[in-house]
Amino acid sequence: MNILVTGGAGYVGSIVAEELLRQGYQVIVLDNLQQGHKGAVAPGAEFIFADVCNAEALDGVFQRARIDAVMHMAAETVVEYSMTDPKRYFHNNIVGGIELLDAMLKHEVYKLVFSSSAAVYGDPQSIPVDEDHPKLPVNSYGESKLMFERILEWYGKAYGLKHISLRYFNAAGASESLGEDHRPETHLIPSVLKAALSKNSPVSIFGTDYPTKDGTCVRDYIHVTDLAIAHILALKRLEKDGSSCIYNLGNGNGFSVKEVIEVAKKVTGCNIKTVSASRRPGDPAVLIASSEKIKRELNWNPQYYELKTIIESAWKWHSKSPEGFKKRNSFTGKN
Ligand code: UFG
Repeated sequence: MNILVTGGAGYVGSIVAEELLRQGYQVIVLDNLQQGHKGAVAPGAEFIFADVCNAEALDGVFQRARIDAVMHMAAETVVEYSMTDPKRYFHNNIVGGIELLDAMLKHEVYKLVFSSSAAVYGDPQSIPVDEDHPKLPVNSYGESKLMFERILEWYGKAYGLKHISLRYFNAAGASESLGEDHRPETHLIPSVLKAALSKNSPVSIFGTDYPTKDGTCVRDYIHVTDLAIAHILALKRLEKDGSSCIYNLGNGNGFSVKEVIEVAKKVTGCNIKTVSASRRPGDPAVLIASSEKIKRELNWNPQYYELKTIIESAWKWHSKSPEGFKKRNSFTGKN
């Protein structure tokens, strides 16, 4: 089966592509390399340098090869930037998504796994958050993901599109060969590990006055390989009975920013310096998932429960690749 992975040169997308290949699928990666890296394209995948907003390029992709299903991961994803530049988020996440759906329908491809986010829930009213929890996003990133989930519902009703949306909590960790390398890095765990490697530069703790156990934000860190495996279970469900649905993907355990830093100090053996900073706009205080639905319905059985093992896998990759994916590729796609 041929699977198109949009955003397959990014952090989660590259590891999903790697897992698909491991399980015997053929993979076509489409990525504009704005955030992704050519070096992160899983060996064995075909790479197409294109943007999901480019209808002509998409048409070409579907014309060239019969695509059986799509995993749509290409997106703007940084909560902080979504507060100051919502235009970019709605354009790339909604307009790009619709271009993709329209190309799929034109070429009679009806199966889609969509990377959604815990950000659709906003500030939780109850913990753990299950799929029925009210959806009240507090940042334009979460709003764009929720809007696209709703668009999928309509495309399902009207055109027969079969879709599964996976609402990720905080993806973390690395596979043996691929890891997390955003430029600039804004995510907590890679920022902490970079600080450990650099020895000097401190990590900012964004907000120490949240109503949480130690005043810092609490998040549910899920290992990226467990996340990747869930995508393939979702794909298999679409292949089997074709019914659309939504699943949360988290670990069910919440860790504060300070706890993450403490565990990282133990894992790395480094003294990681910190500085207190003001709250980051758009950050909910606590996000912890209930992933019972996907465990029950798809037998998803995550392997990484401990924050320590998740950070260890990330540290192994960061220590091996301190510069990340070496040569930065520009938007021209050249290495
Ligand atoms: N944080 C710091 N210092 C840093 C970086 C982050 O204190 O240098 C804090 C953030 O303020 C936040 C927590 O660490 O409270 C986690 O921040 P990340 O940037 O690692 O992740 P987010 O929770 O902002 O967002 C991630 C994904 C989103 C997804 C969300 C769902 O990037 O796509 O998890 O939980 F929506």
